[in-house]
Amino acid sequence: MKIQTKAVHAGDRKKAGPHVPVTTPIHTAASYFFESMEELDRVFAREEPGYCYARYDNPSNSALEELAASLEAGHGALACGSGMAAVHMSLLTALADRRRSVLAANALYGATISLLMNVMEPSGVTVRFTDVWDIDAFSEVVDEQKPGCILIETISNPLLRVAPIDRIADIARAAGAALIVDNTFATPALLRPLELGASFAVHSATKYLAGHGDVLGGIVVTDAAHYDSLRALSRAIGPVLGPFESYLTMRGIKTLPLRIERQCASACRVASWLASHPAIERVYFPADPAHPDAAHIRRLLPQGQYGAIVSFELRGAAREEIFRFMNALKLVVRATSLGDVHSMMLYPVMSSHREISPRHRERMGIRDSLVRLSVGNEAVEDIIEDLDQALRHAG
Ligand SMILES: Cc1ncc(COP(=O)(O)O)c(C=O)c1O
Repeated sequence: MKIQTKAVHAGDRKKAGPHVPVTTPIHTAASYFFESMEELDRVFAREEPGYCYARYDNPSNSALEELAASLEAGHGALACGSGMAAVHMSLLTALADRRRSVLAANALYGATISLLMNVMEPSGVTVRFTDVWDIDAFSEVVDEQKPGCILIETISNPLLRVAPIDRIADIARAAGAALIVDNTFATPALLRPLELGASFAVHSATKYLAGHGDVLGGIVVTDAAHYDSLRALSRAIGPVLGPFESYLTMRGIKTLPLRIERQCASACRVASWLASHPAIERVYFPADPAHPDAAHIRRLLPQGQYGAIVSFELRGAAREEIFRFMNALKLVVRATSLGDVHSMMLYPVMSSHREISPRHRERMGIRDSLVRLSVGNEAVEDIIEDLDQALRHAG
């Protein structure tokens, strides 16, 4: 064979043989070769297991999906190219054979609000935002709207409200609505929405699951009733994660419980230090006994593990003082994400909730004096020292 031919064929398409790699390799092939057309036909028809095309599935993604479904106690999962793609796929699947109406919590990540208002609503879906924490009032809204699906976050971004998922799931089931829970902030290390009756748990895998700031990804985990429909929609739409990102996410998840345990403990210490600092007006953290959702927190979150996000307001601060404070940070990284091994701080009005109108933000309680800290795996004393010196700069 000539070099041009060898260059494209040599070494490829070997049977894996008896060797079982300990960790899943990165399978980059876009399509798969079969000894015969008959075999390929059976795989296409799903009469026999196998891979034929990477938009349908890919061994690296399948391994991650099996891992995510196992952590979230789901039937199956879909690895997506971003958290927003995962939220979108769960909405499309939930509404596929239901009333095209979404009832969403009125505290959600900004891009999720944009997706609902700027993508779902113009496509003919009715969208309504409501209080999901007052369960009696919520039940009345469900009776009135009869939504096809309900969308909430376990721990809301950025004010850390904790939803009564178990009660909401009962109401959703009685109303025939699918419950989608964005579990990004809690992770399955703290809470598993499907065990409480949700139909979908979705994640921005970019955050805690991957955990190292080097992946953009999302995961939808679902129950048996929605799995086939999720995969069919995925084959049609093609929102899938790349195999390299799958590999990194699996690698990240291996240390998820360790990272979360440590970060939750550090976040408790940071939150109580902030609460006694004279420059801090208010701390939002689920360990606070005066938290509006204290009863749900006691029921749903493990004792001592309240997540690793701490949001707080600087006394009398506006954009200028917040910029001064955040510019003075030396260890905590100023960046738009969360859930990494390093501590990060974000200014919600400028990033996560930038697309939301000031009036809508005001209604949500997201003020110009609010910042959101994602507590990382550094020594907690170093994190506190950095916050302390930056607060002196801001004052
Ligand atoms: C709660 C929540 N859901 C979804 C997303 C979207 O994830 P991604 O940025 O991976 O698309 C984010 C991103 O910050 C988030 O915080």
